[in-house]
Amino acid sequence: MSFKRKITLKNGDCLKELKKIKDGSVDQIYADPPYNLSGKTHQTVQSGKPVTLNKGDWDVIDDIDEFNFNWVSECIRVLSDNGTIWISGTLHNHPSIGTILKKLGLWIINDVVWYKRNAPPLLSGNRLAPSVELIWIASKSKKYFFNYELGKILNDGKQMRNLWEINAQRHLTKHPTEKPENLIERIILLGSKKDQVILDPFMGSGTTGVVAKRLSRKFIGIELDREYFDISKERISRVNSTKVILTDKKLILDKDKSEQVLKNIEDN
Ligand SMILES: C[S@@+](CC[C@H](N)C(=O)[O-])C[C@H]1O[C@@H](n2cnc3c(N)ncnc32)[C@H](O)[C@@H]1O
Repeated sequence: MSFKRKITLKNGDCLKELKKIKDGSVDQIYADPPYNLSGKTHQTVQSGKPVTLNKGDWDVIDDIDEFNFNWVSECIRVLSDNGTIWISGTLHNHPSIGTILKKLGLWIINDVVWYKRNAPPLLSGNRLAPSVELIWIASKSKKYFFNYELGKILNDGKQMRNLWEINAQRHLTKHPTEKPENLIERIILLGSKKDQVILDPFMGSGTTGVVAKRLSRKFIGIELDREYFDISKERISRVNSTKVILTDKKLILDKDKSEQVLKNIEDN
């Protein structure tokens, strides 16, 4: 796969599609894999009513450790020596991913806790209401690109911590696990520079592609499900790359101005 094109979208199994990508050719990976949390015995709340937690067949995996090992290994092969991989999860799959990162000899940079103050309430009344997701950040060595100063700028001049309070957002598509754009924006700004290559092996509704395009990064997205693939493709194609939205800073800038702001931020 070559990266002459700015946006490369593949409808298929990431285990197959990742094999077509050259070693060390990707600067940052954001992966939001199946969490394996769907099932008949799990409940959640929708519009105030209890419903069975079923994100889709793609979220039911027999051997989650084997599945995780296979895709994480391929991602690490395509990651550049100073690139970083960011992996979202909950306790359903996060320990499995953490063990694999260690097994593969990766350097674990951070574990981020994403706190959703507005997470839905718990109906069962028998435990604490889940309101966080977790994000591993890892690299191949201790020499990795990380935009620390930009983190400070995004955090009003103060060192950014690994507890991120970002509200869950109303979904823009029918995908059941669409991530908020401002969460992904923060990840991409911290982990890459303009024109670098971002990979998302589980693209879903295309959130990473939307933000990557807005921030003038190259993007490779892989999605198994045809319907979600089409949603992503359409959503990414609609991005107006003459505007850069820094949702975190509540800024919407013209491309000319944003180039300057981002350049200042990245040169810092
Ligand atoms: C948690 S969702 C990603 C949501 C995405 N971050 C967003 O903002 O919309 C995971 C996605 O991975 C897809 N998927 C599951 N297994 C896959 C595989 N082996 N290869 C590629 N995509 C896969 C599912 O269809 C699902 O859309």
